[in-house]
Amino acid sequence: MDSFELNKIAGAVFFTLLVYLGVQNLGDILFHIESADANAYIVEGLEVDDVSALKASAEPEVDILALLQTASVDKGAKVAKKCVSCHAFEKGGANKIGPALWGIVNRDVASVDGFGYSGTLNEMAGDWDYNALNGFLENPKKYAAGTKMAFAGLRKPQDRAAIIAYLNAQGDTPTDFTAGYTPPAAEPESVPAEEPAAETQIEEIPASQDESQDEPVAEATEDMFSDLVADTPSE
Ligand code: HEC
Repeated sequence: MDSFELNKIAGAVFFTLLVYLGVQNLGDILFHIESADANAYIVEGLEVDDVSALKASAEPEVDILALLQTASVDKGAKVAKKCVSCHAFEKGGANKIGPALWGIVNRDVASVDGFGYSGTLNEMAGDWDYNALNGFLENPKKYAAGTKMAFAGLRKPQDRAAIIAYLNAQGDTPTDFTAGYTPPAAEPESVPAEEPAAETQIEEIPASQDESQDEPVAEATEDMFSDLVADTPSE
């Protein structure tokens, strides 16, 4: 009887130990999965965002011709509402506070008859090609210090591309910006490479969680317990 009770106590102690270890392992498994999960998300997301943000701020130069390939004249018509208080866009439109702009693209700077330009624009050489318009419309006072055009500028490159496309359409001989345009050598390799890697990591984690959580712990408990039961009658 005594040894049988001792066995029962020993069995209880072992079983408690077993459950304790099982719970500890389970805790380890859960803990590892959670930390891996968090790292996979946070580190990758931050890296990608930070790098692209840095690149954008380090490249003030805008390839306006590239944007012109997809610029919408309709959007340009909306942007043009910022100009209509001073400019007429239609054919035969009159000079207002600013000169009439029909056919302005590729026309000589300051060449509208009867408009009193500032000295700055009168002295400026060249014509209004898409690069000149891009620079002037981004920040008129910076591009042409002393200009009479009291306009803050269009800070968004897409807005400038749209208005240039619209200005181009408002003329007798619109330029085809897509003719002879060759896109710069693309560098898309890094982007597709990152996405599958992130997906694989996410898929693997739940799979290993399912396997390790239930089976090993449950099996171990049964084995040890059956050993205890088998030992009892022999002693
Ligand atoms: C507040 C009035 C005002 C607004 C708004 C304005 N402009 Fe002007 N713009 C002028 C004046 C004035 C001039 C002449 C500048 C000079 O002589 O220095 C001018 C000149 C220009 C020229 C040069 C024309 C030439 O014949 O050389 C272009 C191009 C132009 N504006 C485009 C635009 C566009 C596009 C917008 C809207 C996004 C706009 N402007 C908004 C007043 C304005």
